[in-house]
Formats: sequence, structure tokens, C-alpha cells
Amino acid sequence: MYSADQTRELQQSSISLLDKAQKKSVQPKDLDLLKNVLRFHEYRYYILDDPLVSDFEYDILYKELERIETEKPELISGDSPSQRVAKGLTKDFPTVQHLVPMLSLENSYNAEDLLDWDRKAREITGLKEIEYCVEPKFDGASISLIYDHDLLLRGATRGDGVEGDEITTNIRQIRSVPLSAKFSSYGLQQVELRGEVLMNKTNFKKYNEQLAEQNLPPLANPRNAASGSLRIKDPKEVSRRNLEAFLYHVSYFTRSDGKTQQKGKHPPENHSDSLEMLWQLGFRSPQREKKVLAGIQAVITYCEEFESKRDELPYEIDGMVIKVNDFELQDKMGMTTHHPRWAIAFKFKARQATSKLQKVDFQVGRTGSITPVAKIDPVPIGGVTVTSISLFNEDVVREKNLKIGDTVLVERAGDVIPYIVKSLVELRTGKEKDIVFPTHCPVCGDKLVRPPDESVWRCINISCPAQVIERIIHFVSKDAMDIRSFGAANVKKFFDLGFLQDVPGIYALPFNKIRELEGFGEKSIENLRTAIEESKKQPLHRLIFGLGIRYVGETTAKTLAKSVDNILSFQKFSLEELQNLEDIGPKVAGSIYQFFHNKDNIHMLEKLEKMGINLKSSKSELTVSGNLDGQTFLFTGTLTQLKRSEAEEKVEQQGGVILTGVSSKLNYLVVGEEAGSKLEKAKKIPSIKILSENEFLRFING
Ligand code: IVH
Repeated sequence: MYSADQTRELQQSSISLLDKAQKKSVQPKDLDLLKNVLRFHEYRYYILDDPLVSDFEYDILYKELERIETEKPELISGDSPSQRVAKGLTKDFPTVQHLVPMLSLENSYNAEDLLDWDRKAREITGLKEIEYCVEPKFDGASISLIYDHDLLLRGATRGDGVEGDEITTNIRQIRSVPLSAKFSSYGLQQVELRGEVLMNKTNFKKYNEQLAEQNLPPLANPRNAASGSLRIKDPKEVSRRNLEAFLYHVSYFTRSDGKTQQKGKHPPENHSDSLEMLWQLGFRSPQREKKVLAGIQAVITYCEEFESKRDELPYEIDGMVIKVNDFELQDKMGMTTHHPRWAIAFKFKARQATSKLQKVDFQVGRTGSITPVAKIDPVPIGGVTVTSISLFNEDVVREKNLKIGDTVLVERAGDVIPYIVKSLVELRTGKEKDIVFPTHCPVCGDKLVRPPDESVWRCINISCPAQVIERIIHFVSKDAMDIRSFGAANVKKFFDLGFLQDVPGIYALPFNKIRELEGFGEKSIENLRTAIEESKKQPLHRLIFGLGIRYVGETTAKTLAKSVDNILSFQKFSLEELQNLEDIGPKVAGSIYQFFHNKDNIHMLEKLEKMGINLKSSKSELTVSGNLDGQTFLFTGTLTQLKRSEAEEKVEQQGGVILTGVSSKLNYLVVGEEAGSKLEKAKKIPSIKILSENEFLRFING
């Protein structure tokens, strides 16, 4: 897309615009250059995954664009980077007709299927060997896009293949879809493209964590997340979901009059060239993943190779697509009403299986929510044996029309938690039983309530043993007070034996009695004692998160910790003052307010303080110094001088960001003992700096 010279030039322009932006002296005459620079940075970020500026610098440039466009609205063009963001809500998604019907693909499941298919293809074409283009089969929501005179004209869902929903406004929120692309340089006037919208695994996980913090059931898988997101009426929400799009097929084009066609460029004559063209025009096409191969044997090998790498990819794929490369041959082979004869999907091993629903247990969470949990006959899916599946709440059970004794279809995609797709109703024998929801808490026996605006039943007895145990488990957990040697099993054991009744009890355990228990040697007792002692010094945000206040996740806990000197000061905060804190809305503020106006909770905090637990905000929590502003870090291997969580905290306190995997976005990989594949991967990316633990400590300390 950008030559080395263009890259250098744009980077240079970016630096001088940033300089001007700092002095607020970017002028309307700089507008075209500014837009080009912003498009260039978006391309580096969203297509190449290799940004050349920090988010902070991008924002400075973007704000300048907004400033100039506000001052001179007549200069706003439809493909300006500011024009993705739409105002207001979408009323409806009108039905539109695709220029070319969006057919499906024939499926194959093993090498024999592919050999058969290749044999037929050679019969039809009369060739000895066919050239194929092989690429991933993206597991998302399929879309079609029309570009006319280089501008994005329309985006639509697949619908029934002939007609779909017009979702242009939502498509414009996907930053890897260019709002304009120079098809004219290839002599093309109108082009229809097909592709897949995805939510990558990291964003999917983050999104589900946010839902969990609000007590909402998570989305089943990234595919549902993508297709659901495309139908949202609030484009801003679509934008927040950070969707991505791969474009993998040019289904239709008309030629322009030839005047605008650049020398040496011509409309593609085969599929591989069309992917190359899309890539050159700034689309995310499977250009880097595709392979052009002669003969089916090489295709089979590539498919198997890709399947073994499936879990390492940042997004979900459910197979590979094999396409006859040459367009003329494609035309010769034609299509059925269902699929083209020149392409076939090679489906990876299913991450679905069927099993029998034996019973439903009802678990009490730390906030008293009752979660139905399906117990199924053990079944292996994608390398793990699944026996238990959360059903989230009563509404989910009703929607899925589940019955005890049903054969159910279970799916587990990647590192996503398993879920029940559906009951196979046609296999029912009549002996299946309804799932009966309890009216009383299965642990303490109190009557359950279902607040009118919620889909969960709750036990509102805060002394309910199940809730107390869950609260303690949460308090000692890794992301809260991180009391390593404790764990859920010990919490339950100590609680049942009467050694532990509440959170402060963690700091007054009767070690003389624990010593007598089976499985507790001197060493494990010492480890437990040390871990408990160390937790007293944990930073305040960990304590706040550990308290398990409803709707208060790690991010809100950090905001709260930054806002006071001592946690007890929250007693004096009004609802309004809480709502004035960063990202805290009325619901969350209400919950925090209630917590700190409950005498029992204050009494517990005072008890913790007397036992030596830190209730104060440390200086570092109050000020995030910007030394590492936007720099990205990842830790691998075992650190010897500090815990990984402490190291990560140090990075975050200085404005750095922790990444979850090695990519070109990573600036520093810190290597502890016995580092493995991450280090190997990082060595192959020259821009990543590799630091030892000592180097990291020197670096972070100044
Ligand atoms: S080609 C006529 N290529 O898989 C061309 N499809 O199960 C047909 N899909 O409906 C599409 N990745 O939505 C093609 N690289 C890829 C794909 C792909 C995912 C989807 C597409 C199709 C479905 C069939």
C-alpha cells in the first residue's frame, strides 16, 4: 500500500504536523495532508498491526482534524477519518439486494474429501493439475461492500444470500474498512467485495469481562459477538466493540473508461491477485495468510499445518477455503444454486459435541446470585473434558427450552468457556423432565427474590454461608489480595471446620489446629502464613476489588483507590461525588454508596485495619507518572525478585500498558527464568527490546 519512500515521507509529515499541533498552528491548507497522515496511521495500526505513533500522538492529530472541521464544516469530506463516527441512532436497516448473490461454500472434512473434489475439478477443466489459492476461513459474520468511484457506498449483511440488511453506518465504524480506496487506479469503477467481520479473541474476552462486571450473561462466542454487533442501532457502541474485517473476495466489478487506470495496473485476473490488489488498496485481505499452490497434495499439507496453529491466531477461524486461482477457470466451472464449484471449505475438527444433560445444580455466588449449572456426561471438546456448563440465569434456560435428559449440543471455541448451543429436541423420548427453579436458597434456605429489573434470582441473606465462602475466595484470589497458597479448596475446608467465618478471619487463622490437619506440613503452613502476612501490604486498589462490591471491577477499584487517602473516607462521599469520578455511572455509584453506608462493612474494614491491613492509598496509586506513556510490556518466564503482578503494576503506575501476547505492537519483553515460546517469537521481531529482570528493574527505577 505505501512504498518505503511514501512511508518515510508520511512519517516525516506526521512529525511536523504533531509539532504544529502542539502549537495549535495546523491550518485548513494542511487538511489534506493531515487526513492522509491519519489514514496512514490507521493503516499501520489496523491493517499491519504495527503502529508508528503512540495512541496519544494519534489522538493529538485527530483532535486537530476535528478542530479544523468544526471551524470550517464546508471542508468535511465523506471519507475524512472523522466521518466514521455517526451521530444519533440508526432507525432501521433497510433490505437491499446484493449485486451478485452471496453463495455459500461446499464443505469438506478430511483429505479424502479434498482428493475427490480435486478429481472432479480436473475432470471439468481437463487439466492435469490445478493451481489453487488457499486461505483461512474466518469465523465471523459475512458482509458485502460496494465501492463506487473509489468511495464506500454501501455495506450489507449476507441475509438470505440474495438480499441483506443495509448496515453502512455500522460498517463505517470498523477501522480496518477504508472509507475510500483507489480502485480507479486498477481501472475499476464499481466493485462489490465480500468479507467477514470479526471480534478478535482479546477484545471478545475483554467485552465478556465487562458484561460479567455488570452481572450480564456473556456472549457465547466471537462469531455471535460479531454478528450481534452489526445489528446494533447505536453506531458509537459498534465503534466501542473494536470489530475488524477481512475482505477475501471480489464478487463483481465494472471497468472505468480507462483514463484513470495507472500504467502497469490492471483488474486482477486471478484470485490471488485480487487479494493482492485489496491489500495494496489498504484493505485487510488474507494476503499474508494465503498461499498459491499447485496440486491438491500441497493444499492438504498447508491446511493441516494451519490447523495446528489455529489456537495461536488472534481471531477464530473454523477451517480453510480452497479456491481455483484462475478467474477463467472459475467461470468454466460455474456454480450450483448453493455454492461455487471452484471453491470448497476444509472444516477443522469440530469444537462441538453432543452429550446428555443429567441435572442442573444451583450455585450461590458472592453477591447472592443463583446460577444454574448444567451437569452433563463428560465429553471431550477441543482437548478438554467438559462436565459442567454455566447456564447463567433463568431466562437463558427458558430461551433454550432445556429439559433434564435432553441430548444437548455443546460448543467450546478456543479459550472461550463452553456453552450449550441447543437441545436436540427431535431426540426427545418424552421422559425428559422440566428444570425446576428453586424458590429458596439451596444453601441457607432463605426465600429467593428476583429484582424486577434483573434476570437473576438472589439470596439476600448476606450471612448465607455460600456467599461468605465465595466472598472469601474472591478476597484471596490472584487479582485481588493474591494470597497464593490459600485457594478455594482451603477456604471451603477452613470454613467447614469453623476455622474461618469471615474475611478478617483470614488474618487470625488458628495455625495450631491447621497443623493437625492431613496434608498440612510445616512448609505449607509457613508458605500460607507468609502469603497472608505479605498481603497486608497490598496496594489499596486490590483491597477494594477484593471486597467484592457489586459492579466494582479492577478498573473501577483503581479509580476509587486514586480518589482517597484512606478507604474509610468513602463514608463521607455523596452519591453525586461518586458519580463525578472517572467512568462511574449511577448504578455503580449507588452500589459503592450502599457498601460504605452499611455498618457491618465499616466494622469489617476497621477490624482489618487493626490487624495491620493497608487501607491507605500509596503515592503511586495517587499519581500515575507518565514515564512509560503508552509503552507496551509483556512478561514471560518466572521472575525471581518480584511477583509478576507487582512488576505489571509498576509498569501501569508509570503509564505503560501490559499486552497479552507477542506482536509487533510490543515494545519490551521482560524475560524471567525458563522463558519459552514467547521469547523465541519475540526474537524474530526486531523492534521488540528484550530485557532481563535486572535490566527491567534498572529501567523502571529510573
Ligand atoms: S469465499 C463465492 N472465503 O464462509 C465465494 N468465504 O461457510 C464464497 N467465509 O458464506 C465465499 N472465510 O461467509 C470465502 N476466506 C473465505 C472465507 C469465507 C469465511 C465464510 C463466508 C461463506 C461461509 C461459508
